[in-house]
Amino acid sequence: MDLALYYINLVAYTSIAGMFLFFIVKKRKTHPFEQSSWEKMEKKCAKLILTNKNIKRVSGIMLEEIEMGLRQKSNKNADIKCYPTYVRNLPNGKEKGKFLALDLGGTNFRVLLIQLGETAPEKEFVSREFPLPDLIRTSSGEALFDHIAECLALFVKEFKVDKEIIPLGFTFSFPCRQEGLTKAKLVQWTKGFTCSEVEGRDVAELLQNAIHKRKDVHIKIMAVLNDTTGTLMSSAYKQPNCKIGLIIGTGTNACYVEKIENMELLDGDSDDSNQCIVNTEWGAFGDNGSLDFIRTDFDRALDSVTSNRGKQLYEKMISGKYLGEIVRRVLVSLAKDGLIFKDSSYKCLLEADKFKTKLISEIEKKPENDFTDCECILEELGLTDFTHEDCAKVRYVCQLVSRRAAFMAAAGVATLINKINEKHVVVAVDGTVYRLHPHFRHLMEQKIKQLIRPGLSFELILSEDGSGRGAALVAAVADRMKREEIYRNLLKKVFL
Ligand code: BGC
Repeated sequence: MDLALYYINLVAYTSIAGMFLFFIVKKRKTHPFEQSSWEKMEKKCAKLILTNKNIKRVSGIMLEEIEMGLRQKSNKNADIKCYPTYVRNLPNGKEKGKFLALDLGGTNFRVLLIQLGETAPEKEFVSREFPLPDLIRTSSGEALFDHIAECLALFVKEFKVDKEIIPLGFTFSFPCRQEGLTKAKLVQWTKGFTCSEVEGRDVAELLQNAIHKRKDVHIKIMAVLNDTTGTLMSSAYKQPNCKIGLIIGTGTNACYVEKIENMELLDGDSDDSNQCIVNTEWGAFGDNGSLDFIRTDFDRALDSVTSNRGKQLYEKMISGKYLGEIVRRVLVSLAKDGLIFKDSSYKCLLEADKFKTKLISEIEKKPENDFTDCECILEELGLTDFTHEDCAKVRYVCQLVSRRAAFMAAAGVATLINKINEKHVVVAVDGTVYRLHPHFRHLMEQKIKQLIRPGLSFELILSEDGSGRGAALVAAVADRMKREEIYRNLLKKVFL
């Protein structure tokens, strides 16, 4: 009897245990590879995570490259060229008159008209944005500058200033070797521009010729500058501690205020100011292989199909022209390995540039477990049958790519803050990536704090439309300096 009871109990317990086991296995089977696929995904993406040690190393190499760039002897071999901008004088409030600004450097270009006066620094401000079709961005230099001159003419006619001679500040956001405030030779195109017969030539001259050719407007180019310089100038107007101008948009670059004694490349300029803005052109950092230790296969594959292959490698890890494309490449690679999007609809992502950088910001804007926006985005891209887990993975990839970009940019800013070595430095920042991404600023601030020398402090301030307004201000300062010089010469003639 006891034996029978023992067997009945044994059977009952075994079946209960069996049922438990069945449910556990069944439960695991509904998520059979979640755990392992997350791990595999993380492993595949691990190189996109920058360790603190590597970020410090990036900052160290960057400092060496900047020092090389500033010196005559080593400039040739430096990736960071540190071009003198010939912008040395900041606005002093005595600028007056109407000034035009032209801002060229991304997918659109803008024209602005600013009226500066004695009381208010900027009394009047009107602007227009003109699209720059792909066809023009990749055609000839002549077509590009004729198109710009035509839009300028339309603008001055619209605002009825076409009969006046108006000084213009030209923000041309590409690497240029400047030989003066109004002479800037394009070194090489970046950000997908490929117009022929512009590299090696003076862009101020090309634009001035295109304007003259039309004979219907009278515009005088007073200054050519980079967008970083414009950004710094327009903020320095209000904040004297502003010593760095930074752009994280379609491309990336920074400029900073350097002491003349450290600038061996500056010559032929009679100005007696003891400082000068240096356009670092840091986007080219890494072109000599110095960032290979952190570049991934995704970066290499992306670079191999760009119009400037092997160039602007730091920029290609940070800026808006590339971040979405990196995310797309990671997602495709994960899908091919069966780690995300289990149906074949992922093939819609095979098209280059399909995943725009702004989507990263839209996806990361929502709280961790809110997938509504991500679902809409994936649907619009053409994906079907995706799960919440897929959305979480997309978000994870976006985070990796944007964090890496923010940390790389932070390494650059920290390097400049350490180089300037002043107690408090204000950094004027502009650019769509910085402005639209919900965490970019915070991530950068965190990292910069860890990287700067103890005792130094900084502040990142947003400089809305600095590149446009800055150009008008530089033109205004140049105009004031010229008027003051004429006045000085006149006085000399009268009294000597
Ligand atoms: C250009 C820089 C520019 C930056 C941001 C880079 O591609 O080389 O001159 O400042 O983009 O627009």
